[in-house]
Amino acid sequence: MIIAYPSTAHDQPHARIVLVGSGGALSPAAAAADAAGGGQLARALAAARFDGEAGAIVELLAPAGIAATRLLAIGSGTAEGADAALFEKLGGAIAARLQTSGETRASVDLGGVSAAIPLAEAAAHLAHGAMLRNWRFDKYHTTMKPKQKPTLAQLDVLGATGAEAFHARLAAIADGVMRTRALVTEPANVIYPESFVAAAQDLAALGITLTVLDVPAMEALGMGAVLGVAQGSVRPARILAMQWNGTGSDTPPAPVVLVGKGVTFDTGGISIKPAAGMEDMKWDMGGAAAVTGAMHALAARRAKAHVVGVVGLVENMPDGNAQRPGDVVTSMSGQTIEVINTDAEGRLVLCDAIWWAQEIWKPEVIVDLATLTGAIIISLGHDHAGMFTNDDGLAAQLSAAGEATGDRLWRMPMGDSFDKLIDSPIADMKNVGPREGGSITAAQFIKRFVKPGVKWAHLDIAGTVWVSKAGTLHEKGATGFGVRLLDRFIADNFEAR
Ligand code: BES
Ligand code: MN
Ligand code: ZN
Repeated sequence: MIIAYPSTAHDQPHARIVLVGSGGALSPAAAAADAAGGGQLARALAAARFDGEAGAIVELLAPAGIAATRLLAIGSGTAEGADAALFEKLGGAIAARLQTSGETRASVDLGGVSAAIPLAEAAAHLAHGAMLRNWRFDKYHTTMKPKQKPTLAQLDVLGATGAEAFHARLAAIADGVMRTRALVTEPANVIYPESFVAAAQDLAALGITLTVLDVPAMEALGMGAVLGVAQGSVRPARILAMQWNGTGSDTPPAPVVLVGKGVTFDTGGISIKPAAGMEDMKWDMGGAAAVTGAMHALAARRAKAHVVGVVGLVENMPDGNAQRPGDVVTSMSGQTIEVINTDAEGRLVLCDAIWWAQEIWKPEVIVDLATLTGAIIISLGHDHAGMFTNDDGLAAQLSAAGEATGDRLWRMPMGDSFDKLIDSPIADMKNVGPREGGSITAAQFIKRFVKPGVKWAHLDIAGTVWVSKAGTLHEKGATGFGVRLLDRFIADNFEAR
């Protein structure tokens, strides 16, 4: 969708959008449309019992007195509440309403609206929300009827001079989110370890340095945990590192390291999953996709920070060569693991990826993202990801970024009583604990691979990567969870300004 910030509205009839505040207070553009239509808008709002509630829409087709195919009045709530998130919500609601309406062009007029942020910023956030909500994945539909196809091609945001200054940064972030969603949505016959790496190559054009470990390199490093998962698949594993140094220094400080679980398909392996719903496991690489999208966003907006994204890419399959329950593998760290359940594979991928990242980059801060456990969905549902961390300051930084972006987190407990549940009689640890507290023992497992002094957070995003209902900023399906969160976390805590 094209976004523009023109000073006057397009002269051909198109969909026009005006804001109405709490209690039905008409914005200047709404009042003008109402006057031109002889009070038609006010009568329609009254008939709809519309009170200006944020995001609510009253739609007039072929409105009287103005050159518009339709007129949408959208509630903007109170002026104090009219912040960046509110304008994103409005953009999202507009895109959702008009995407397949037959309209090709729409304009929203913010002139004279009272808000908690400058209107230039508000306009860019409205456009950002529209961009995010307008994204769909239609590439495999070949027989869609014309009325099902998206029509909305351009959104003009009027009445806010200077919006362009805020636009580029938000567009970079939206591009990162959309990249993540596409990776998550692609099926596992299209996105597998090698093709994931191939799909990331264009990040080099943004200034990202890519490093790839193939299987011989991983063998040489002793990554027995991730290779054990991979050995049942005909698709070879990869580790991909994406380095963005936006500090302007050739000797930058140690990077923040972001690590993603990239299980491109999780059958469970020999501990095979039930058939029902197994197709969902194409998005078991949602952590890797979020890290990749975040790296895209950071580089595209030239973030003044040093950040490295590391993704462990592997397919978990049952096979004559697959690892068996009870196998003992040796991780790169030297610690041995009894693989009780081959379906608890994500932690086996993360432990080697995290260890390798620490050896190479000596980070002080690591954040990993993983669709790690079904148990986190039982605990928290779909609105929060679970956060596990060894550092209260890092918890506060991540929580704040989550609240600011809507990628919300909820902190979960950790401790020695959970840690001892993964002790093994035959090896240093086993890869599963009891059913109770399954997300916590998974986090404790990862923690055993975090070096002393490193601030680390693990985000279990199993419930937030993919949703069955559309939200304010996403269609149903892939949400792009994590990209805006990580971008904000870096911006607020690690960027020179
Ligand atoms: N990828 C799954 C977790 C998952 C389940 C994500 C459902 C999204 C939706 C993970 O690899 C897994 O299978 N975890 C097991 C762990 C268990 C064997 C200890 C689980 O959650 O059942
Ligand atoms: Mn699994
Ligand atoms: Zn998995």
